[in-house]
Formats: sequence, structure tokens, C-alpha cells
Amino acid sequence: MNLWHRLPVFLGLIYLAIRRHLHQQYNLINVGTTPKGVRFNPADHPYRTANGEYNDPFGEGVGAQNSFFGRNNQPVDQTDELMKPDPVVVAVKLLSRKKFIDTGKQFNMIAASWIQFMIHDWIDHMEETNQTEIVAPPEVASQCPLKKFRFYKTKEVPTGFYDIKTGSLNIRTPWWDGSAIYGNDAEKNAEVRTFKDGKLKIANNGLLQHDQDGIAISGDVRNSWAGVSTLQALFIKEHNAVCDAIKGENPFLNDEELYRHARLVTAAVIAKIHTIDWTVELLKTDTMYVALHANWYGLLGKKFKDAFGHVGSEILSGYVGMKKPENHGVPYSLTEDFTSVYRMHPLLPDTLHLRDTHAKPGKDKSPPMKQEVPMIDLIGLKGEKTLTNIGFTGQLVSMGHQASGALEIWNYPKWLRDIIVQNPDGSERPDHVDMPTLEIYRDRERKVPRYNHFRRSMLMIPISKWEDLTNDAEVIKTLREVYSDNIEKLDLLVGLMVEKKIKGFAISETAFFIFILMASRRLEADRFFTSDFNEETYTKKGLEWVNTTESLRDVITRHYPEITEKWMNSTSAFSVWDSTPNAHNPIPILLRVPQH
Ligand code: HEM
Ligand SMILES: *[C@@H]1O[C@H](CO)[C@@H](O)[C@H](O)[C@H]1NC(C)=O
Ligand SMILES: *[C@@H]1O[C@H](CO)[C@@H](O)[C@H](O)[C@H]1NC(C)=O
Ligand SMILES: *[C@@H]1O[C@H](CO)[C@@H](O)[C@H](O)[C@H]1NC(C)=O
Repeated sequence: MNLWHRLPVFLGLIYLAIRRHLHQQYNLINVGTTPKGVRFNPADHPYRTANGEYNDPFGEGVGAQNSFFGRNNQPVDQTDELMKPDPVVVAVKLLSRKKFIDTGKQFNMIAASWIQFMIHDWIDHMEETNQTEIVAPPEVASQCPLKKFRFYKTKEVPTGFYDIKTGSLNIRTPWWDGSAIYGNDAEKNAEVRTFKDGKLKIANNGLLQHDQDGIAISGDVRNSWAGVSTLQALFIKEHNAVCDAIKGENPFLNDEELYRHARLVTAAVIAKIHTIDWTVELLKTDTMYVALHANWYGLLGKKFKDAFGHVGSEILSGYVGMKKPENHGVPYSLTEDFTSVYRMHPLLPDTLHLRDTHAKPGKDKSPPMKQEVPMIDLIGLKGEKTLTNIGFTGQLVSMGHQASGALEIWNYPKWLRDIIVQNPDGSERPDHVDMPTLEIYRDRERKVPRYNHFRRSMLMIPISKWEDLTNDAEVIKTLREVYSDNIEKLDLLVGLMVEKKIKGFAISETAFFIFILMASRRLEADRFFTSDFNEETYTKKGLEWVNTTESLRDVITRHYPEITEKWMNSTSAFSVWDSTPNAHNPIPILLRVPQH
């Protein structure tokens, strides 16, 4: 059954529900010993802690900073094949961008920045302290900006368990807790707070503040760029506005109490926008529209839930507000496989199309072009300086009007083949890296199965020939050459890019099946989206704030009404802003049949 996406919406939903159920049974694998912590009383911690502890009532360390990455598929040791085929050859021949491919009007640069903002909330691997080196082989060296480069291996840590013996540690809290703005530990958290009325630090120009070394002050700033800093700044404003609103209703709450409530609210707003706005633009079909709204509101919909609260099952009323969190018997974590399918660097273009936001809007509210700014000038510490000159409005509106890159073969930005990388604290490292080469190496080093094995393990039909992936003769010829005509050797990242996409999907189906499992899990396993999604924990004002915020557009409008008014014609802030607003369709959505 690989034509589920052509079924009428209600049948497609049934297929996806069964599929998710199967993945919950077969594709959630614990790494490390199962927590045997004493059950604590959740009422003692009615807030998100700085390092993610005390969320799961049955294991205080579940989802904490430096806990293990879990897995969706059994690990496949590739110690003997780390360099086979040579990752530099894969990067040069199959990844490196030939000609920029974009996503048309579907997905803009705010959407690309958004997912990086989320990655910086969820995952980052702890590294070894000693370095290793990759040298470009002579056959491709002339096509490599770095003939060799040094980097830190992923730290392999004993699990103390007989089944999966080693694993890696997540230095970010995997909960959907806004840690990209609040930090992943108490020290960072103290740095970003003002300790007055619950608020966070933000500069007068509406952008992030910086320390004496030019490093931005926010929860997680490692390997970031101007686009992500802009979103961090926007959500700091959101947090601070929530503090004011809650204080208005509860004038006696102190700094700590206001901070805790506002963090819960802001994290929930982020999770909601991701679920019913960002992902809807990523997977633009009627079936996915309903499925994603159902994750938040349930099939009975928003009006019903607003009126009657969470009634019945998660199918009818959504995950949010469920009576109890649900982890399907496996303590919550994000996974190695999840990290791999989120390797989406081809979303990045070569230049930012900077717009003139002082001019008059042109056709469909599009601002005139001012200048093309190379992406390399917008990353890291240099990027922060460039952003100061561009300003919040210029950056946001420009990203709104520019399409992101497409997740396709031969579309990995060339400028990422020679970049400065940073330490976890945001300071720069002396050794530049070649990102596409490193990414191929990382998946192998972390024992993530290669593409075809990954598919089998994800209950998908494996490919039996290159033609199952693509019709493009030139691509097939190159795949044959690089992988010595052995489809089992195909790297996951390459497979995800080459795979024919479902109409309306910006990602591959293989990646998508990890998504339906893990996107639901981020909500249902978290007590603050389930048993503690209530007025007592969030405050009445806070819950109302989450209930009435439906999109990124709403958040932008709240803080910058003139931006949406003047520059945004699209319905979603994640599609290109001069596109036509969604039209009304009189056919009830559950009965629609996808048109191909
Ligand atoms: C200008 C923007 C970006 C820069 C400079 C950047 C840079 C980096 C760097 C240096 C790493 C670490 C590589 C390693 O040592 O393994 C990394 C990892 C990663 N990036 Fe990006 N990236 C950017 C945008 C994005 C975007 C748009 C996505 C989209 C989802 C993304 C997803 C990831 C993921 C999933 C990882 C792996 C994290 C892990 O190992 O735990 N990045 N990036
Ligand atoms: C790095 O250090 C670890 C622990 O000391 C050691 O096991 C490993 O072999 C070293 N790796 C390299 C590449 O030197
Ligand atoms: C918010 O929505 C939930 C259902 O999702 C409902 O139970 C709750 O009463 C609402 N609260 C407010 C203050 O709007
Ligand atoms: C926005 O979209 C609508 C609907 O397609 C169109 O009529 C209108 O001209 C567009 N532009 C502006 C500036 O509203």
C-alpha cells in the first residue's frame, strides 16, 4: 500500500493512524537503562525545569540535558565502513549544489529558519574531546574547498545495558520546552533572564543582546545564523508579553512565578505553531491538514474543544490536554534516526534576497529587491553583525518573500563546504569543516542504518533497483558509480534527497514516517501538554493565550502589526508572502479526494 496519499482524506487518516500505531510498537527503542528513579510528585514541579528534569513522573532524569538519544531502528555498526564509499566523494558527486532548486511558493526562508530554531530546541550530540581528520581523496580533491578538515567525533558512551551497549548524549533537552531561548541548564538560564517580572533580555532594536565577544545572548546560539536569531528575538518578545498579561491578571506573582508560567505558555505557542502551521505548509495536502489539526485539537475540531474541553480519546480531542502523558512503554527521548532525517541543510539558499522595507509595496505586497547578501556573511558571529545592520524588519520580511531550497539531490549549499563552526557556548573553533561530508560520516558513525535497511526497519517496501528512487538517468548513473551498483550501500541522507516526493510534500516519505511517530510523541509524552495542560499550571490568562494563538502570523501581528499588514498577502507566514491567500473550498475536507 504505497498510494495511501491518493486515498480520500478520511481513508488516508485511517491508514496513518494504523501506521503510527505500528511504529509505536516497533520503532521506539530505549537506549540506556530504564529509569528506576523513585516516583516523584509532579505537583512539586509544576513548571519546566532549566535542564529538563522532573517532567516524566516515573523518571526524573527522562528528557534531561545529557540523557541518551533513543533509536527508532536497531543500530547497525559500520565501523568497517565509515569511509566506504568515501564521504567526500558522496558529498562532491551526489550532494553538492549544481544549480539552486527552490520550493516555489510553498516554503519560505522563515520556514527554513523555523526548523533550525526547533533543532536548536531539541537535539545536539555531545562530542569527544580529541579530534579526527578527513582527507579528500585525489580524484575529487580539486572540487573541495577544504582538502582536509579536522572535527570532533561523536562521544560514544556505555549505556550499562546488555542490549544496546553504547549510545550518544543529547546536550539539548529533547522536550519541546523552548530551550533555544531559555537554555538547557541553570547557568545558561540565568544568563538570559532579567530577573524582573519574569522577563528575558532583549536589545532595544528588537534583536538579541550580545556579550563582549559578540556572542548573542539566548538559550542556544551554537552554529546559528541571522534567520534563527530573528525568531529567537521574536519569541523573547512573545515571552515578555505573556509575562505582562499574566501579571495584569495576577499582580502578586513574583519574578520566578511569572517566568515559569510564561515559559510554559511560550513553549506551547511554539509547539502549536509548529503543529498546525509550519508542518501544514511542509506537508501541503488535505489529509495532512486534518491529521495535524487533529494532533492538537482532535477530529472534533477547535470549536468543539474550546466549548467542551478534552473529551474522549486523543483521536477525537487531540493529544493536548489528555488526562495522562503516554510514552508507549519507552521513556521519552529524541532519536538518532530523528536527527538523521532532520538533516535539511539544502533548505538554505546561496544568498539572502534583502528587500527594501522602506519602499512602497509592489504586486501582492512584495517589497523591491535591495541587494543579495551571501549566506556565508549571515552565519555565526559575523552574521550577528550583518543582522544588526539589516534590522529585524528587513530580515523577517526578506525571509518571508524568499523561497527556501528544496530537499533534492545536487542541492546542498556549496558555501557549507567550508564554514567556521562553534563550541557549545557559541565561541568559534579554529578548524573549518565540510558539512555535507561530515553529515554522511555522522550517520555512519552513529550507527544509523543506511537507506534501504532504514526503510525495511520502518516497515516500508525497500527499493530493489535505482529506478525505484528516480527516473533521472544521470542521477542513476552517478549513484551506480559512487555505490559500485550496490543499493544496500546507499547513504540515508542521499536516499532521502533522491526519493521521489509525494505531491505537496517538501520531505521524503521515508522521513515522513519518522515524523508522524515523533511529532505525536513530543506532545503526548510531555506532561505539560497533557495532564498539566490546565489553568492551574498555565494560569487562566496563559491558557487563553495558547488557545487563541493559531499561527506564526498571529505572533508577528501581535508584536509588529505593520509588518503583516503591509508585506504579507499569504495565509501562512511560512509560505512565500506574495502568494495568494488560501481559497475557500466548499467540499467538506474529510470527503475530499487528492487531485493529481
Ligand atoms: C546557516 C544555517 C546553518 C548552519 C550554519 C548549520 C550548521 C550546522 C553545524 C556546524 C552542525 C554540526 C555538524 C556536526 O558536527 O555534525 C549542524 C548540525 C545539524 N543541523 Fe545545521 N546548520 C544550519 C541550518 C540548519 C537547518 C536549516 C537545519 C534544518 C533542519 C539544520 C539541521 C541540522 C541537524 C539535524 C544537525 C545535526 C544535529 C546533531 O548532530 O545532533 N541545520 N548544523
Ligand atoms: C579519543 O579518545 C578516546 C577516549 O580517550 C579514545 O577511546 C579514542 O580512541 C580516541 N579517538 C581518536 C580518534 O583518537
Ligand atoms: C483552553 O482550551 C482547553 C481545551 O483545549 C479548554 O479546556 C480550556 O478551558 C480553555 N481555557 C481557556 C482559558 O480558554
Ligand atoms: C493578495 O491576494 C489577493 C487574492 O488573490 C489578491 O486579490 C490581491 O491583489 C493580493 N494583493 C494584495 C496587495 O492584497
